[in-house]
Amino acid sequence: MENSRVVLITGASSGIGLSIGQHLSSLQYQVVGTSRNPDKYPNHPFPLIAMDVLDNTSVKEGIVAVIAAYARIDVLVNNAGMGMAGPLEEMDLKAVDSLMNTNLNGPIRVIQHALAIMHKQQSGTIINMASLAGDNGLPFRSIYAASKAALIRVSESLRLELRHTPIQCTVLSPGSIKTAISENRYYAPLAENSTYYKQYKASLAEMDTHVNKGLPPICVAKRVEKLINNKKLKPHYSVGPFLEVLSPIIKFLLPQRAYENLIASFYNLN
Ligand SMILES: NC(=O)c1ccc[n+]([C@@H]2O[C@H](COP(=O)([O-])OP(=O)(O)OC[C@H]3O[C@@H](n4cnc5c(N)ncnc54)[C@H](OP(=O)(O)O)[C@@H]3O)[C@@H](O)[C@H]2O)c1
Repeated sequence: MENSRVVLITGASSGIGLSIGQHLSSLQYQVVGTSRNPDKYPNHPFPLIAMDVLDNTSVKEGIVAVIAAYARIDVLVNNAGMGMAGPLEEMDLKAVDSLMNTNLNGPIRVIQHALAIMHKQQSGTIINMASLAGDNGLPFRSIYAASKAALIRVSESLRLELRHTPIQCTVLSPGSIKTAISENRYYAPLAENSTYYKQYKASLAEMDTHVNKGLPPICVAKRVEKLINNKKLKPHYSVGPFLEVLSPIIKFLLPQRAYENLIASFYNLN
């Protein structure tokens, strides 16, 4: 039966991952989510196992636990991730490493362990949750944008490496989605005498407004449902507010400086 497929969603305690899990559970998929602290969510609407994507042993144990309980992984939604904001010049490099480790190395760790299972099954679908931020340089979100751009490149490469197998891989890039991502974001500490103080504050306020006015996470969940029922996935999909989804096309069409000015005004710079 189609809907008995086992779907593993990393970072499913809140926001987009939670919504995907709720939606797919309501359609009778066997959903298992992950959280660094599953005990914090005793009444979660679907099973949550412990997994910290920063820790290879934790990822390995998480995958072993899924196989022990469900015997297979048909779909991996590599969703766990976090935001980061601050001027590049003042960014603490340990925080940079940690963000890249979470948003790039984290999904890679999960892919490596999940692929071993998918090869044995001779089937599987991997959806990597990137971001439209990965298509652009964005003010005060350089490292986040870089982490998602890197995840997009990794996914494109992996698709080519998996061409001779029945395993599918794609990227889903959301635009602004109304979740707690702003609360959970890492913020670089900013000195009041920083040369970036005014621009950063203005841009940050705009960033939060975009998230708060963003689409509800169910829109991403419904898109994931469509993707996992697509037998011939394309390399890249996006979901989000109309203008944001159009941004890669606008970027391609506009002269470079005109597009940069558009991004600057979108983030209240100037
Ligand atoms: N909201 C947006 O506008 C937006 C736009 C584009 C892309 N995205 C991407 O969508 C994904 C979900 O974001 P969201 O908006 O739903 O944010 P969120 O509500 O903050 O959810 C983030 C999830 O990631 C998990 N997580 C964080 N660090 C982790 C780690 N080291 N190991 C394992 N899990 C970890 C968290 O779980 P625990 O804290 O329970 O461990 C949580 O469930 C992220 O990859 C984000 O970059 C979001």
